[in-house]
Amino acid sequence: MSDDELTKRIDHQIRNVFHIAFEENQLLELGKSYQANIHHGMQHTKDLIALSKQLIFKLKKEEEIDWKVLTISIILHDLFAEQDIYNKTTITHGKKSVDFFNTNFKSYFSVEQCKKVEEAISTHDEKSTEYLNYRESLCLESKILYDVDNLDAFGVKGFYRYVAIYQLKGIPFDHILGNVENRFRLLNFNESKEIGRVEYERITCLCKNYNSSRDREVSFIISFIALYPSISPSKIAIEALLLPAYLPGSWDNRGTFHKYFEELYQIYSKKN
Ligand SMILES: [Fe+2]
Ligand SMILES: [Fe+2]
Repeated sequence: MSDDELTKRIDHQIRNVFHIAFEENQLLELGKSYQANIHHGMQHTKDLIALSKQLIFKLKKEEEIDWKVLTISIILHDLFAEQDIYNKTTITHGKKSVDFFNTNFKSYFSVEQCKKVEEAISTHDEKSTEYLNYRESLCLESKILYDVDNLDAFGVKGFYRYVAIYQLKGIPFDHILGNVENRFRLLNFNESKEIGRVEYERITCLCKNYNSSRDREVSFIISFIALYPSISPSKIAIEALLLPAYLPGSWDNRGTFHKYFEELYQIYSKKN
């Protein structure tokens, strides 16, 4: 089969699952709020699908992957993540998604597929020592979801998501660096590290500049995002890009701050 035919087949499988999730199953949780959810909604889902395609082709696992399992796992894995930001409970957002899947989607999948979806969703955020001991034995779909979800936390977009979410959770921003380094170190595949290396270096550079010297421009980026953690990032970027025009003398400093928000705007305004 040619690459073109394969891509078409994969896209067809993905579209079928999107149809089941968003059209056939008229569920409240997958309605407008999902489309509008900035940090864990449709944008995150589409970006994870794109990263998965890239990673699976790089791994040459096109014949092994079950796209139906991976797609529904991606769509549902963070469905309750926003609730975790505001309410501290012992039930993880992954566990809640597994229950949601079992209640609403089980009938669309075989028994074996259901087991894989449950595993992929429930382990997507696992970084415990116990998990590290058995993660090698997990199914391919679990490993892929874990890696692409972590890859989405790097780069300009990842930095934005970290700052906004840490602001909402009340976590100090100098904790981002350690969390990012851990994410990169724990990726399942070297191929994931290859895909994410440049973006990883980008975010660690921003974090190091902030942590070591409270770099003025990075601090300014953080303050700006932290002011509006729940509004659309492209709107934040537009505001940020207009801002220096009103600050006397700041036109010369169109460096890190401007580049950052220009890129953020590009990322979030692109067509999917
Ligand atoms: Fe999550
Ligand atoms: Fe996620």
